[in-house]
Amino acid sequence: MNRIHFIFILLLFLIFCACRRDTPTYRIGVSQCSDDEWRHRMNQEILREAMFYDGVEVEIRTVKDDTEKQKQDIRYFIDQKVDLIIVAPNQAAPLTAIVEEAFDKGIAVITFDRNILSDKYTAFVGADNYEVGKSVGNYIASMLKGKGNIVELTGLAGSTPAIDRHQGFITAISQYPDITLLCQEDAGWLRELAEEKMDTILSRFNDIDVVYAQNDRMAAGAYQAALRHAREDDMSFIGIDALPGEGYGLDLVNKGVLEATFIYPTGGDRVIQIAMDILEGRSYSRETILNTAVVDPTNSHVMTLQTREISELDTKIETLNNRIGIYLSRYATQQIILYGSLFFLLLVAGLLLIVYKSLRTKNRLNAELSKQKIQLETQRDQLIELSRQLEEATHAKLVFFTNISHDFRTPLTLVADPVDHLLADRTLSEEQSKLLRLIKRNVDILLRLVNQILDFRKYENGKLEFVPTRINLLQSLQSWNASFEEAARKKHIHFTFNHTSGSDFDLNADPEKMERIYFNLMSNAFKFTPENGKITVCLSASESPERVWAYRLTVANTGSLISSEHIRSIFDRFYKIDMHHAGSGIGLALVKAFVELHGGTISVESDEKQGTIFTVDIPVERTDISGQTAVSAIADTDTVSVQGVATSSELLLEEISEEESYDTTKPVVLVIDDNADIRSYVHSLLHADYSVLEAANGIEGINKAMKYVPDVIISDIMMPGLDGVECCRRLKSELQTCHIPIILLTACSLDEQRIQGYDVGADSYISKPFNSQVLVSRVRNLLDSTQRIKQVMGEASMITRENVCDMDKDFVARFKSLIEKQMNDSSLNVEDLGKEMGLSRVQLYRKIKSLTNYSPNELLRITRLKKATSLLSSTSLSIAEICYEVGFTSPSYFAKCYKEQYGESPSDYLKRTGGGG
Ligand code: FRU
Repeated sequence: MNRIHFIFILLLFLIFCACRRDTPTYRIGVSQCSDDEWRHRMNQEILREAMFYDGVEVEIRTVKDDTEKQKQDIRYFIDQKVDLIIVAPNQAAPLTAIVEEAFDKGIAVITFDRNILSDKYTAFVGADNYEVGKSVGNYIASMLKGKGNIVELTGLAGSTPAIDRHQGFITAISQYPDITLLCQEDAGWLRELAEEKMDTILSRFNDIDVVYAQNDRMAAGAYQAALRHAREDDMSFIGIDALPGEGYGLDLVNKGVLEATFIYPTGGDRVIQIAMDILEGRSYSRETILNTAVVDPTNSHVMTLQTREISELDTKIETLNNRIGIYLSRYATQQIILYGSLFFLLLVAGLLLIVYKSLRTKNRLNAELSKQKIQLETQRDQLIELSRQLEEATHAKLVFFTNISHDFRTPLTLVADPVDHLLADRTLSEEQSKLLRLIKRNVDILLRLVNQILDFRKYENGKLEFVPTRINLLQSLQSWNASFEEAARKKHIHFTFNHTSGSDFDLNADPEKMERIYFNLMSNAFKFTPENGKITVCLSASESPERVWAYRLTVANTGSLISSEHIRSIFDRFYKIDMHHAGSGIGLALVKAFVELHGGTISVESDEKQGTIFTVDIPVERTDISGQTAVSAIADTDTVSVQGVATSSELLLEEISEEESYDTTKPVVLVIDDNADIRSYVHSLLHADYSVLEAANGIEGINKAMKYVPDVIISDIMMPGLDGVECCRRLKSELQTCHIPIILLTACSLDEQRIQGYDVGADSYISKPFNSQVLVSRVRNLLDSTQRIKQVMGEASMITRENVCDMDKDFVARFKSLIEKQMNDSSLNVEDLGKEMGLSRVQLYRKIKSLTNYSPNELLRITRLKKATSLLSSTSLSIAEICYEVGFTSPSYFAKCYKEQYGESPSDYLKRTGGGG
């Protein structure tokens, strides 16, 4: 258990302690039958007494002399499952059953003051009403000196005090024969009813000496009636209860309204004491009889004083009790605060512990960090030093490149110029001038590259000249567009040029640099747009209502997609999207430099929907340009037009349709290279002895290889899209092409690349720049060795040849078994066989021929004849039967073919070998 858990549990415990409320141990229900002062006093005593016991809850329910309602109260207490019921039954008989039910259910029952008609109660507390009645009788008898007339007002009929007090009274007065009970009336313990009843009695009887009312309330009511009749002095009034306080029994005696009253003690404290004895299992007496005494003018004043004293004491107790209550609630609050504080202290202690530990960890980490910081600082210093060295090295390299580019320029010019001279010679053969044009094109490309490097260095060094003049951009672009039309036509590219109207498109610009910007962007677009793609150029003006402030040129092309990762760096110098993309990576960096020289901006977007769009914004006026001498923008077009696009268009013009050049009598060589000059050059090296097919990329190469099944394939490695290694791997895994020897031709001379090439099945590897004789002899050697193997091994044993791949062995085996199965079918032809092998007629022909040196038909015939020889030597079938058996349609044609193959006819063979089996 970790610290956090411990603190959490402690917290829960404290909260529990703080929130704990004393749940009552005992619940006591009190059911009062009447709502009057006597009951109020008793209730007060009950509640006061209960306070002396811990965990006691008292609920008092009171009815107004209503027996039915009291039954409901008792039912309620039963349902609440109280521990004890204290009940003063309004009437004995009707309430006996419900009290018995409570008792039977195990609830302790204390009846007080009044009782039920059964023994099923736990205890009784109250005065002995019979004795009370008897005391009253004796008191009156002595008061009347044994003679006189009495009227009795009784309590509620059916309530035990009313019954008992009457009986006790009768017992006492029956001793005096001269005492007459004039009448007895039920006044239900109530003053108003007693007054009413007394009214009637007074009109009935003229001679009344004493009115005995079973309580003081009824006595006061009777007195009131006598007062009205002005007969109050004719008779005495006696009551029971003797409650203290203004208007109650004691006071009435003091005032002379009552002759006497008898104490009927409320005893609420006693009831609770007995209840607690019962609940807490102490011994108790089942019947507790409270004392009574007479109060008359002789002792009423003393009694009043005493009761006042008692009442004051009660008030003091009450006050004390309230104070205790306040202290207790304060104590409870303080207890909560204490627990809260304790919890808080613990929490703080826990947190302090955590903070302390964290600080220690932090210090440790800080120490480690500062150690690492020192290490990192050292590494940073080393890196700074390294980067400085690197910068120096890069600078040195760039200086070297610049110098070497300078050095290249002179010899290149010296090559270009003589070539121009030579080209002018009209006596040159077509072959010679073609080679010279090839040299010129490539010298021009080299010159352009060298110039680009030099320009870029100039730009980086801030030495690039900017010669602005007033040009019309629209006219310039329109004239430059002419150079691309041919290229667009040859490559089937849909090229459109649009411009917005309403603007003259005049601006101050360096025409040569503008031209270079445009040609570079267009070369790029043409280079990466596939056949049947689209290039759209748009010139527009960015204007505000007042003036045109910039021109926007967009060059959009379909097909090529530049990922967002490359877009970020595409204008960086020497940045290449991947190794397979041709070019030095300086063209777009230079375009950006030229655009910035004009105070403009360039951006590029590329997505699948719209392709790639280059956007150039050139301001109409560059603030720092002053009017300078115009330099003809178009004059220098020739230098620019030697760039990629022009080169491509020239090449396209020279392309010779493959269908025309494809000569099946010569071995076929397929050249796959994205550089048209290389293709053209290899073509020129081989076309005398071979049919040369060309493909400009890997996909086209694979398609042509599948279609024509060439005898040798020469492929470049670095090509956009599918590279040479992948192309070779695919060709070697296809049945149609797996047998074809492949020469990989590449500018990369790294060993890993060679290994990669051989791993995918390349047969030879030649590095660029290559020696043309080496290439020609390698092609020849590869073809010769295939040829030799076929001749030496012959078709019969060829499938065991070591340099034949498994796929080819399977192929031949499958092909032979196909023939053997259907040999007797004379209609079996090469087309059917091709279909069954999954090859076209040409593919089957080229494949079989290359593997066996026979055409499929020849192979079919030879297999038939071999089978015939075997049948001739092993069966007794006739020659004619064997002829049909092996699928020949006529015995004479069979004999002719047999003789051609083996130099003897089937019959000569039979004669020589002694006939069939
Ligand atoms: C109070 C009271 C007293 C009387 C007693 C009899 O409710 O009416 O006046 O003595 O009940 O039960």
